[in-house]
Order: sequence, then C-alpha cells, then structure tokens
Amino acid sequence: MTTDTRDVAADRRTGYTLPQAYYVADEFFQRDLERVFATNWLFVGSSSEVPRPGDVAAWSMGRDSVLLTRDDEGVVRAHHNVCRHRGCRLWPEGSGSARVVVCPYHQWTYGLDGALRAAPHMGPDADRHELSLRPVHLRNLGGLLFVCFSDAAPPFDPAVDAVEPQLRLHDLEQARVAARQHYTVAANWKILVENNRECYHCRVNHPEFCLSNYDFGIAGDSRTNRQYEAAVADHHRRWVEQGLAPQEVSFADDGWFRVARLPLRDGFVTESLSGSLIAPLLGRLPSSDVGSLRLVTLPNSWTHVDADYAATTRLTPVGPERTDVDITFLVRADAVEGRDYTVAELTAVLGATSEQDWELCELNAAGIRSRGYLPGPLSPVTEGSVSTFHDWYLRCLEGDS
Ligand code: FES
Ligand SMILES: [Fe+2]
Repeated sequence: MTTDTRDVAADRRTGYTLPQAYYVADEFFQRDLERVFATNWLFVGSSSEVPRPGDVAAWSMGRDSVLLTRDDEGVVRAHHNVCRHRGCRLWPEGSGSARVVVCPYHQWTYGLDGALRAAPHMGPDADRHELSLRPVHLRNLGGLLFVCFSDAAPPFDPAVDAVEPQLRLHDLEQARVAARQHYTVAANWKILVENNRECYHCRVNHPEFCLSNYDFGIAGDSRTNRQYEAAVADHHRRWVEQGLAPQEVSFADDGWFRVARLPLRDGFVTESLSGSLIAPLLGRLPSSDVGSLRLVTLPNSWTHVDADYAATTRLTPVGPERTDVDITFLVRADAVEGRDYTVAELTAVLGATSEQDWELCELNAAGIRSRGYLPGPLSPVTEGSVSTFHDWYLRCLEGDS
C-alpha cells in the first residue's frame, strides 16, 4: 500500500483509533522507525542478559543495531554494531561471549570497551584512537537497559527519579534470565501498545491474569470499584512502611513512561495460578506483600516486577504489519531451576496472557487491514491510556512535512 502521510494525517480524529494507513502502510512504518524509534529511549533488555565480563548481545532495530557488551571491568557498554573500517555488521543478532569482537570481513578487532585493538595492514598512519566503535546512548534503570540511537537523546532522569526508588528492593541487577519467549505477531507495533494500554478486554480474554489481577488500575481507566480502592489504600499503607516508595507516575508531563505498584487480589502474593510464590523472593524485599510493580515505556516495552519474578516484554517492529516480541523472565541470581522454580510455573500466567493478547492483536490487525475498517471511538471510561499513547505518538511525528 502506498499512501501520502500528509493527506491521511488530516483524517485523524481525536478520541478515535487511527486511520488505516497508520497501521498498514509502509510509508507510515518507515516514518515510525525514523521519528519514533530512532529518537526515543528503547528498552533493549535487562543487565542480566549480559551478566559476566565478555558477554555480548546484539539487537537490530530498523536500520540500526546496537552491540551490548560487558567489558573487562564489568561495565555494560553500548556501541553501534558497525565496523569502523568499511562498515560491516560486527556481531550477528543474539548473544554470546567473546574476549574481543572481531569483524568478519577483514578482522579488525575491538575490545569490549569499543576500542580498536588491531587493524591488520592499515599501515603506520592509521589512527586507532579515532577508530573506536561509535557509542550509543545507554542508561540503566535499576537493571533495565535503555538505548537511544539518535545523537540527541530525550531526558532520562525523570524515569530514574520515579522508578528507581520503587525498583530498588527488587534488585534486578542481582537477577538472572530463567526463561525466554519469542513471538512474531502479524500486527503493527501500535496495535500491541494499544492492547497493552487498556484492560477493557481483560475480563473476558485473560482468565489466568484475572485470577491474581484486578482489571482496574491502568492509567486513564476511570471506572470506580470500592473493593479495588480499599485494596489500594490498604496496600499502600503497608508498602510505605516497608520502604517500597509506591507512587504512580503515568506519562507525566507528556512523558514516555509509567510506573505503578498495583495490589493483587486477596490470596495472591504473585502472578501465579495458585496465589503462592513460585520462586524465591527477589533482591532485598522485606516480605512477599509487595503487589506487582508495573513499568511501561513508550514506544517498546512493559515489565511486571512481582515479589518473586519479573517479566520484561520488548517489542521490535520489523514491518508495517509484523512485530517481534521477546519476553524474558527473571528470577534471583541464586535460584536453581527444579529446586526453587520451574519454567512452566514461571510462565504460566504471563505466557498465557501474552499469547491471548497476540491473538487479539492479529484479529484486530485483520479487521483494520480490511476495506470495512473505519476509525472507531475509544471509550472515555476505559481507554484513556490508548488516547494518551496516541497523543505521545503523534507528538513524536510532529514537524512532518
Ligand atoms: S569492514 Fe570490518 S574489517 Fe573491514
Ligand atoms: Fe491483554
């Protein structure tokens, strides 16, 4: 489909889903990559993806790719995954370990800190200091790593101020990867974010999720429920006493992140099927009475951090109607599979919920792609956060000519 982005933008109606082209047209997708993904902070993974010196991981996003390394001093680094000789991609997608990174083309060799160590046959005049790998902006948010490919990264400190005090006792720096799930979803990335931004669909579609979760508490959902509000008040008091610093910050100041600690239903201390813990307590938590900490970062991630495990979800748009999703389950670093947890229990709720969501997103995409689609009205009661996402997204596109 070819579409002029200017003509279609004029059709956009506030409070409605976006015109069809935003979800299916290649011109719009390319614009999203350049104006939304190349310019904002992107969740790349947790620091436990590269736990030891010598660990390397690469992630491709649009036409860029970031090389994450943990150097000999234990510092996590991010560089463009591009050789400084003739520009060859250095490291294939995925993770591994290495003492140095060697370009497959002519074997220029880089340290894990990005410094050029060897460049055969380049003669005495080659200035190695000038030819280090180019850094990519990298920030660590309590063990969650974010990169920005553009030279001018948006402010990150507001996220640190809002999230770190709440994440601190879960200590995700001392966690390890227990399970990974990878999906390719036949839907535009915005359909996945819209789906994540409302719990209008939860009660009917997510039986496992609704065992432990209220379907309230999402930003922009103005439904009232006395039982839920009593649970919030009760839990907040106890969380403050435990030093968990609960404070909801949802896309404040037109921002790109949300953090909130939500109560779980009575009888549930984590998002499990039974209600009981399914892994040892994370970090330095004083008890299991910590609810479920939620973090959403636009445009590409959401994370649940419970008493005993965390699950990060990373979106990678790979086409106008194709999105890769990587879900990573984290447990404390010294937890032993089979003794302290099982992958089946760990993934039972959020794995099932995610798969239900991908099915809904693909159905949604199928309808949007059809000749029968027209933008539809968002609920002013339950879909306020979808509108907030649209507003943020459209601000990213501003300046389009
Ligand atoms: S392109 Fe990397 S060594 Fe030549
Ligand atoms: Fe869902």
